Amino acid sequence: MKTIFSGIQPSGTITIGNYIGALKQFVELQNDYNCYFCIVDEHAITVPQDPQTLRKNIRSLAALYLAVGIDPDKATLFIQSEVPAHAQAGWMLQCVSYIGELERMTQFKDKSAGREAVSAGLLTYPPLMAADILLYSAHLVPVGDDQKQHLELTRDIAERFNKKYNDIFTIPNIHLPKVGARVMSLQEPTKKMSKSDPNQRSFISLLDEPKQIEKKIKSAVTDSDGIVKYDYENKPGVSNLLSIYSIFSNLSIEEIETKYEGRGYGEFKTDLAEVIINALQPIQTRYKELIDSEELDEILDRGAEKANKVANKMLKKMENAMGLGRKR
Ligand code: TYM
Repeated sequence: MKTIFSGIQPSGTITIGNYIGALKQFVELQNDYNCYFCIVDEHAITVPQDPQTLRKNIRSLAALYLAVGIDPDKATLFIQSEVPAHAQAGWMLQCVSYIGELERMTQFKDKSAGREAVSAGLLTYPPLMAADILLYSAHLVPVGDDQKQHLELTRDIAERFNKKYNDIFTIPNIHLPKVGARVMSLQEPTKKMSKSDPNQRSFISLLDEPKQIEKKIKSAVTDSDGIVKYDYENKPGVSNLLSIYSIFSNLSIEEIETKYEGRGYGEFKTDLAEVIINALQPIQTRYKELIDSEELDEILDRGAEKANKVANKMLKKMENAMGLGRKR
């Protein structure tokens, strides 16, 4: 059975962008692959975090993974910092990465732009992500479109290591969703929807109340021609809403276009809000059952135990390949 690894940062409220680009795919893939899903808290601290909020977000993300349908009997769910091999392997892979290639990452450029104090961790984030993936010999990494560049760099780092030291790493492939690889902001539909966007109206969180969802969809930016039609170039706002509608309703874009022919954006938006509310309702119910449960801790304990075993084996191989420590 082939292996999958993916991770999500506990750096804010998880959005429908994360759900569509990542979580929804994970649930579908867990039946056919040996899956590792990670709460990448060490990635989150590359930008300032309030410690108490971070702790809360880690637990909340763990509960959400399960609430959307990750089955702990099929997939291994764990917290990155509870598997020390990630940071250790991350350091070793930093030493085979070049500053130039790290500085070229668009995420680094975006997140460091305008900041006075940029942490070194923000620059060396990609080798840590490579460590996450390579420690588990993942064949496939399901992510949204924005992680493409990081995945390409992971492949480069793995190939470089294999050539320079020993052929120990599996070269991973990216797995993008067919629709929704890039869900856009509701307020600026040419920008991706982001959980760290300070404008709360730009995203829908998986935990938003029905009233909030209605408000956010109502205020979503569209255009003035009143035609529900997919045309990303000229109608990015409406096209984004159509994609979201399609994913949550299982109707095709064409079917939705036909349904709203001759009807305005008002009706389209009211129905879209309802479709989203109905889809999120069972997730929110399950989330509430899990968030303070012992079951959640037990699942995370089991996940960390299994992940540590697999990761430590690969870490040993890496140390042997690089000549670190003593031969044992
Ligand atoms: P993060 O936490 O920013 O996002 C988690 C996942 O959600 C996807 N995503 C989106 N998909 C579609 N539309 C959007 N608007 C949208 N916003 C986010 C992301 O592509 C991602 O799949 N570096 C990663 C975390 C990471 C990781 C890894 C991923 C660390 N180690 C190893 C895979 C494998 C990140 O910051 O994702």
